[in-house]
Amino acid sequence: MSSSTMTGQGKRAKIPARTLRTDRWWFPPLVTFVGLGAWILYATVRVFMQKWYWVDDFHYLTPFYSPCISDGCVPEASHFGRFLPDVWFLPYAALTLPFLLLFRLTCYYYRKAYYRAFWLSPPACAVAEPHKTYSGETRFPLIFQNAHRYFFYAAVAISLINTFDAILAFHSPDGFGFGLGNIVLLVNVVMLWAYTASCHSCRSIVGGRLKHFSAHPVRYRTWTFVSRLNTKHMELAWITLGTLAFTDFYVMAVSAGWISDLRFVG
Ligand code: FES
Repeated sequence: MSSSTMTGQGKRAKIPARTLRTDRWWFPPLVTFVGLGAWILYATVRVFMQKWYWVDDFHYLTPFYSPCISDGCVPEASHFGRFLPDVWFLPYAALTLPFLLLFRLTCYYYRKAYYRAFWLSPPACAVAEPHKTYSGETRFPLIFQNAHRYFFYAAVAISLINTFDAILAFHSPDGFGFGLGNIVLLVNVVMLWAYTASCHSCRSIVGGRLKHFSAHPVRYRTWTFVSRLNTKHMELAWITLGTLAFTDFYVMAVSAGWISDLRFVG
């Protein structure tokens, strides 16, 4: 086989059918399409809802509104000030949400997922794509996918803020408190850290550009740990979508008075 054929730059074999695969190759991209589509719909509705994001008794703040920096935020939920105008088209966490979105959009796993499920480029292995040309990620606009490393740094900062929120939530009207909401917030934060640490850029940052691991034992141990997490990156990408939506829904349900938080202390 010539190198041009192997890299896909040469002519492809002339097959009239779109694919010769007979298995249900369309099923995984369909599941991805439905799953990501449903999550995006839920998140969009929630970030523009501008209510039911804070539980005053227990200081629960949903991650979709953190940090709450709009003039419309209740003062107790605004740990970093309120300096954005309160207008309907600006989410209360408008400073951080774009970075989180870009972090996920440029993620190596999500790229594969939406290239296949949304752009059908290609929808599956050995299935022809509908597009006539492909310029890859070396040219505009997809060259911006390479900025992922910088969004990783932003995601680390935002995970620190989410951790801060989860610690502040050990609160009750009498002082210290602990309820089911704390467990929900904590699990979400731990999963967010696991997803962030399992990032391919993180692995490159902690273990890259070294000539000898033996001279850098701490970085080697960190890299080994991150590499193990990295093998679970796809699972963590989906788990964190689940924990984020569930945490937000839980805070909304308690804040709206649909359910009461199960309290263990306070
Ligand atoms: S590769 Fe997925 S978050 Fe970095």
